[in-house]
Amino acid sequence: MTHCQPFDVAIIGGGIAGLSVALRLSEQTRVALFTKGQLGESNTRYAQGGLAVALGDDDSPELHLQDTLAAGAGLCDEEAVRILVEQAPDAVRWLIEMGVQFDRAQPGEDAHMTPDGLLLGREGAHCRWRVLHAGGDATGAEIERALLAAIQTRSSIELYEDTFVQDILLRDGRCVGLQATRSNGETFELYAQSVVLASGGAGGLWLHTSNPSGATADGLALAWRAGAALADLEFMQFHPTVLVADGSSHLISEAVRGEGAYLRNHAGERFMPRYSAQEELAPRDVVARAILNEMLTEKTDCQYLDLRHLPSQKMHARFPTISALCQQYGLDLASDLLPIAPAAHYCMGGVLVDTYGRTTVEGLYAVGEVSCTGVHGANRLASNSLLEGLVYGIRIADHLLPLDQLQWEHTSSLQHSSQFFVYEDDLESIPSSRLTHKPSTAQVSRQVRQLMWEYVSLCRDHEGLLLAKQQVRELRAEVQSLDELDVSCLETLNMLLVSELVITAALERCESRGSHWRQDYQLSDQDLAARHLAFVPLPIDP
Ligand code: SIN
Repeated sequence: MTHCQPFDVAIIGGGIAGLSVALRLSEQTRVALFTKGQLGESNTRYAQGGLAVALGDDDSPELHLQDTLAAGAGLCDEEAVRILVEQAPDAVRWLIEMGVQFDRAQPGEDAHMTPDGLLLGREGAHCRWRVLHAGGDATGAEIERALLAAIQTRSSIELYEDTFVQDILLRDGRCVGLQATRSNGETFELYAQSVVLASGGAGGLWLHTSNPSGATADGLALAWRAGAALADLEFMQFHPTVLVADGSSHLISEAVRGEGAYLRNHAGERFMPRYSAQEELAPRDVVARAILNEMLTEKTDCQYLDLRHLPSQKMHARFPTISALCQQYGLDLASDLLPIAPAAHYCMGGVLVDTYGRTTVEGLYAVGEVSCTGVHGANRLASNSLLEGLVYGIRIADHLLPLDQLQWEHTSSLQHSSQFFVYEDDLESIPSSRLTHKPSTAQVSRQVRQLMWEYVSLCRDHEGLLLAKQQVRELRAEVQSLDELDVSCLETLNMLLVSELVITAALERCESRGSHWRQDYQLSDQDLAARHLAFVPLPIDP
């Protein structure tokens, strides 16, 4: 095993959160930036809709806060949301300084825009037009492009691409670095004063997802094995409109409904008015469940997005990425009914952090989708995810090194409103007869994604969750017993571990709230309002 010179900060993940931390740290700070694939291949890159920020004449951070809290179904941490919405305008200005080119109105154009001409889009559960976008519907790609270009100019940032971080190194309970494996199999240790998890979410645990294949919950598993608390894992957001033509699973942005698209069932009925006064622009959990309900009632495997009443040329120009995607499947964005269904999209829960990104393990930080700041509550407001990565990325970078020298203490209101459970992470209770055959990791990951889709999706109940948990544990025991654990085994083990924790959290929350809908507890429980469920691993005897 090789060792490298110590760094000030090691960052795991190259989406908007990780890149913002890296770029915002001073040029004197030695940074190591890890990505398990090529830099740029992150969830950020695929974000279409945009970035929410109260910059319109008729808007304010207070209105943005109210919309975020309402969508979050009673579970948002208000202090964390206030930081998000109030620091958003400055954070966006910094992003523009970094070179991001948001779409601007043409001279004389009649459009929703900020006083200085940035175009504003509309999405579900926002009371104002407040979503900045770039390239029409290629916002994430433009952000990633600009931040990567800025990273290339920084000699203080050392890149470790195609490098899988397999463990956090601890000394006396404090995080002191990480252990990683390069694509050639070489394993090494790297020491750093602080380690920042910015590795994105867990959409890849479900069979149908809008996420790229790398979203295998690695950051959550790393934090867990280091002893950090994870919170709100039962809240997985399912995006209502993922194109399902030819077995595909591609996002169709909520901004399309923001421009006026309708949802229709197979009978041709525009059904959303039956479910919500906000119609197609209701919060995501409401729209996704309505679509599922129509699918179950009609016994169909999709519903339709309809733009046929909207100006065709304008729609193609506003959504060039989606238009090209539809074309790939022989569909015209503006004149065909587009087959859609909900798919796993965004993990509201994550590594429990305070508003400076501090986890419950000293020296270990988390930011972006991998973290749980409490800003999203039980259902994230559209276009608040890039924003969270950006605002909290900047905030963490600005405080990281001074904070690390302070005495370690947590004052997070999220922690105060969390109920902690100690979870024993052992597999010894699995009958050994089940461990005889050795499956391929590709087979196992397919099985776990199928189980999560079948039993831990939009509609859950005790029996299905228990069954899924038992099977996931058996699969984990099988993979754990393999003689050699290569990177694909380690990734699969991460998926299995986090799936088990998600199911455990879903079993524990005996109510329906936001994205977590229990068939056997269909109402929200007032006693559980604003109560976060946090899990910590049982410490292993030294
Ligand atoms: C979308 O464009 O609908 C996705 C953006 C988001 O998840 O906030």
